[in-house]
Amino acid sequence: MNLLFVLLCLSTIAVRNVRGKSKVRYFPDYFEFGASTASYQVEGAWDEDGKSLSIWDVAAHMSPSPIKDGSTGDVAADSYHLYKRDVEIMKELGLNFYRFSVSWSRILPSGFANQINQAGIDYYNNLINEMLANNIKPFLTIYHWDLPQSFQDLGGWANPMIVDWFVDYAKVLFENFGDRVKFWISINEPKQICTEGYGTDKKAPMVNMSGIADYMCNKNVLLAHAKTYRLYDEIYRKDQNGSVGISISCTWYEPASDSNDDQQAAEDARIFDWGQYVHAIFTKEGDFPERIKKNVAYKSAEQGYAKSRLPELSVAEVDLIRGSSDFFGLNSYTSKLVYRDASVEGMYAVPSYMDDLGVVMVPDPNWPQSHSSWLQEVPWGFYKLFKEIRNVYGNPTLYVTENGWSTDAGLIDDDRVRYYRNYLNALLDAIEEGSDIRGYTAWSMIDNFEWMQGYADKFGLYEVDFTSPERTRTPRKSAYIYKEIVRTKSLDPDYEPEILLDATKEN
Ligand SMILES: *[C@@H]1O[C@H](CO)[C@@H](O)[C@H](O)[C@H]1NC(C)=O
Ligand SMILES: *[C@@H]1O[C@H](CO)[C@@H](O)[C@H](O)[C@H]1NC(C)=O
Repeated sequence: MNLLFVLLCLSTIAVRNVRGKSKVRYFPDYFEFGASTASYQVEGAWDEDGKSLSIWDVAAHMSPSPIKDGSTGDVAADSYHLYKRDVEIMKELGLNFYRFSVSWSRILPSGFANQINQAGIDYYNNLINEMLANNIKPFLTIYHWDLPQSFQDLGGWANPMIVDWFVDYAKVLFENFGDRVKFWISINEPKQICTEGYGTDKKAPMVNMSGIADYMCNKNVLLAHAKTYRLYDEIYRKDQNGSVGISISCTWYEPASDSNDDQQAAEDARIFDWGQYVHAIFTKEGDFPERIKKNVAYKSAEQGYAKSRLPELSVAEVDLIRGSSDFFGLNSYTSKLVYRDASVEGMYAVPSYMDDLGVVMVPDPNWPQSHSSWLQEVPWGFYKLFKEIRNVYGNPTLYVTENGWSTDAGLIDDDRVRYYRNYLNALLDAIEEGSDIRGYTAWSMIDNFEWMQGYADKFGLYEVDFTSPERTRTPRKSAYIYKEIVRTKSLDPDYEPEILLDATKEN
């Protein structure tokens, strides 16, 4: 027993020494780093200069408020007025690119492209020009959840007319910004828009019709994305030479045991959560996966519906969607354990997305917990996700368009530092094994309005003081660490910033 103990100690030391020699890991030369925000979460100026209401303005102004701390995005981080300070921060971090989104109702107050609000165009031109003057590439998200309320009154993403309204809006952006913007995300996170916004009351517009409205929304979101891609391809690509993709939020689902039921349950969870979008866009066959079509058709018949609750895609629609992306924008934060046993019976409302999926998803209590109930640190899940996308979905070109960690207030955020390092380390493993990952985007550059959580969950590399009229931005420890990762294009687990200076004084 003593000998065994000694051997164990020796082998641990040996591993440490090997790691010690090659501790610093390098990213490929072509690899680029950025950080992300979204319009409603940072801009404020909710009713200024001709902007009309979005579904998030309406949700945040409801009484009683559905937002946890009763807050709104009326001012948020005030980036509408403080965009120059935001660009300074991009420079301080040394970012290669910055991912931001455009507020549809700021550009097109009626929602339709009949009347363009010049003040809205001016704001984004100023932001883009300021970024380019500082050598930072704009990575523009066309839609990050703030639908004009005028369209919600007509059914929003459940109305098939939205597809053409969206394309008309995208065209205005290509026309006005495409000379300078070369990276486009059509739509951010179909799952969160549809499964949460239409299937539950956890996101605006809180339609709360699970198993029906969520599936109607999915189809229209995919078509809006695909038609926007085709428009760019046919009209703008020749002159503008940019890339158009979509950001899909992917959680890793790990079987809770190695039983066949749990393996199948985890696979089903991956397919329902994100595989359905990835399958439709990135596989040769396209369309929704057979597994979903069968499950929902079977349940619908059992429940007495005349047709499947899952809308079909026609052959022409399958063709339109298939291959409609120059790259895969991957948003990923966390993992869950999945199982399927008798306890699933009667657990969920009928009909519903969760009943159609029919699994239980839980975090492992041993995983480090962030300030957000849904977010645990599981770097190996991030690695497995890359592997699955490489092996099952044809190894598309990837940009990580979101990844990050939430904390409570405070500047010394060692758990965020640990999260970023562990996730980037997993990403490097995936690159070494052949994943085609071109860039990484931290969520978020600055603290912002975290949807239903209000300002309680802080995701920023920079803290924002939401109580000061100036919305003062101050770098956290993680900002200094990220800056060094970007500067050296490497990951050094031992790097410690010497001092935490106020970045505004540093310049
Ligand atoms: C959404 O539906 C669930 C049940 O399906 C219900 O408990 C909840 O109160 C609904 N939310 C709203 C805002 O109506
Ligand atoms: C478009 O980009 C490619 C490579 O990225 C480059 O070779 C080509 O010259 C560019 N064309 C235009 C019109 O800018």
